[in-house]
Amino acid sequence: MNDTIHQPVIYLDHAATSFPKPESVLQAMQHSMREEAANPGRGGHKMAIAAGRVLMRTRLELSSLFGVSNPSDIAFMPNTTAALNQGIQGCLQPGDHVVTTMMEHNSVRRPLEYMRKKYQVDVDYVTVDEAGQIDLSELRKLCSRKTRLIVCNHSSNLLGSILPIQEIAEIAQSVGAWLLVDAAQSAGSIPVDVKALGIDMLAFPGHKGLLGPQGTGGLYISPSLDLEPLIYGGTGSQSEEVDQPSVRPDRYEAGTPNTVGIAGLGAGVRYIKDIGVSVIGHHEWLLTQYAIEQLSAVRGLRLLGPQLGEPRTGIVSFILESIDPSALAFRLDREYGIAVRAGYHCTPLAHQSANTTLSGAVRSSFGYDTTKKDVEALVDAVRHIASSV
Ligand SMILES: Cc1ncc(COP(=O)(O)O)c(C=O)c1O
Repeated sequence: MNDTIHQPVIYLDHAATSFPKPESVLQAMQHSMREEAANPGRGGHKMAIAAGRVLMRTRLELSSLFGVSNPSDIAFMPNTTAALNQGIQGCLQPGDHVVTTMMEHNSVRRPLEYMRKKYQVDVDYVTVDEAGQIDLSELRKLCSRKTRLIVCNHSSNLLGSILPIQEIAEIAQSVGAWLLVDAAQSAGSIPVDVKALGIDMLAFPGHKGLLGPQGTGGLYISPSLDLEPLIYGGTGSQSEEVDQPSVRPDRYEAGTPNTVGIAGLGAGVRYIKDIGVSVIGHHEWLLTQYAIEQLSAVRGLRLLGPQLGEPRTGIVSFILESIDPSALAFRLDREYGIAVRAGYHCTPLAHQSANTTLSGAVRSSFGYDTTKKDVEALVDAVRHIASSV
């Protein structure tokens, strides 16, 4: 069966995963697969060493992207979810207190709720307003000396709003808590410097704004934080020891890594660094402003998230009163060849804040390849559907 999609797709689902990937990413993966996809760190032959270098090169690219001094403080993970689980489960003790927000992805909420049930971890959620902002004084009030961790996203995957990470880090430091930032929607679109911002752990995807393939991501872990590993096993190092090595990154990278994917991720990071993260972020912001201006003129349409002119990442979510979001997304795809995502976007509490709990929403999300023409096509299609139902 040939199920390749032949018709051109206007891809507006970058918040889920970026597409297409740059040619250099495809080439790096093909080169790795053909020439050097031996097992890195497991053997002294030339090809294993070459594979190890691929990992090191990508780690170096990521370190310079995120202001990390020691590349070994970055552990590769298969996605943001794995990185968040490692960060959350690795630093909490029974009875600890955690503060998070009502805007988090299930990849934060579910591990926290698991820790609550299993280890009596106490979890508080800071409320979020309709524009996707938190009240810092509420966060301050919820934090105490018992608070071990603050975990929040840098940018909401429903609303595109951006949280003030530096101020949140100051609150975390004032009570001696760690700060774990979920950079799923910001890595590659907003400059992130972990030292300047005061971030103790940064969970990031490789497959979204960094333009790498699916199955890649990572976790930066501050050198002052001794996280308990989540996965134990072979690392190719200290094999005679029964305990997991204490040396980084091996401590957090048990099992054969995704060498081919990591080769692609390195090329993706090089690609965005050549363009400039701020340039990419600004391009995406301009597209959101255009989309908001145009969509706000469609009858019966309600936009979610920050107002026109406010900072946001490349996400514009909305609902049409006359048609269910899933039906709208289906029609956009089947009749207009436009790929967007409908539903709850794995963030049910954010829908509570946005007053869309009953309906969910349609989310369009833009990348560096997205053009004004793509946004025009979306607006035209939505307008057309709105007038036909
Ligand atoms: C804010 C946020 N956190 C976490 C995730 C999970 O990311 P991944 O699919 O890389 O595990 C996503 C995915 O969309 C997200 O938007």
